[in-house]
Amino acid sequence: MEEEKKSPKHVAIIMDGNGRWAKERGLPRLKGHEQGIEALRRTVRATIDLKLEILTVFGFSTENWNRPTREVNGLMRLAKYFMKTDVDELHRAGVRLRVIGNRDGIDPKLRHMIDEAEKLTADNRQLTFVVAFNYGCRQEIARAVRRIAEKVAKGLFDPKTISAEMVQQHLYIADLPDPDLIIRTGGEIRLSNFLLWQSAYAELIFLDTLWPDFDRNILQQAIEEFQRRDRRFGCVKA
Ligand code: IPE
Ligand code: IPE
Ligand code: MG
Repeated sequence: MEEEKKSPKHVAIIMDGNGRWAKERGLPRLKGHEQGIEALRRTVRATIDLKLEILTVFGFSTENWNRPTREVNGLMRLAKYFMKTDVDELHRAGVRLRVIGNRDGIDPKLRHMIDEAEKLTADNRQLTFVVAFNYGCRQEIARAVRRIAEKVAKGLFDPKTISAEMVQQHLYIADLPDPDLIIRTGGEIRLSNFLLWQSAYAELIFLDTLWPDFDRNILQQAIEEFQRRDRRFGCVKA
């Protein structure tokens, strides 16, 4: 009998290629980011329809501050615009929003919008939508190490008891499963400091599609590819 095809519970996406999408059309890079928001809206709707439990997206990396000020300002403006225009609809659709990353580094107004949106949607369970914003996994791991060290210094536990499980418990999100599938659009074959710890056993799919062109069909094809993969987690098949 054919095994039942397992859908991923948690899909994570590195939304890359906005700048190139705009450049191909002779448009400013920000136009690509604007279309990227449209692609994100489509993707959230598709993940709800496909009944995935968790969607994580990479919105802004700790390294993205090194881009020209104009682009960084534009991205921050777009983030505020998204929070302003989309949170109510996400809430009505039963989406729980969580934002991971260094919140201290972002504009207080945006930070406030994020705090409020998380509070508003905290009890929703249709989809958990995690946005990585001002996020880098090395920084996330360093933060976890710091938090553990503080507890050791207070004498709360013996360093000998530090395990992988304990490190995981001190990451931004301790209560959600790791991503089963990570998709990167935009043709680059790298993780760029995204979920390095959490991707230990994720299936990786790299697509040439530029993020503004991403849609439900492409997501479905990626899920089908995931279903054809044989996940062994280091074991051998019986
Ligand atoms: C991804 O698109 C969006 C962010 C990093 C914020 P890029 O802006 O990296 O687009 P490319 O890679 O230059 O095409
Ligand atoms: C990764 O894309 C960050 C986001 C998608 C938010 P980048 O475009 O910043 O990654 P690199 O510079 O190509 O590695
Ligand atoms: Mg890029």
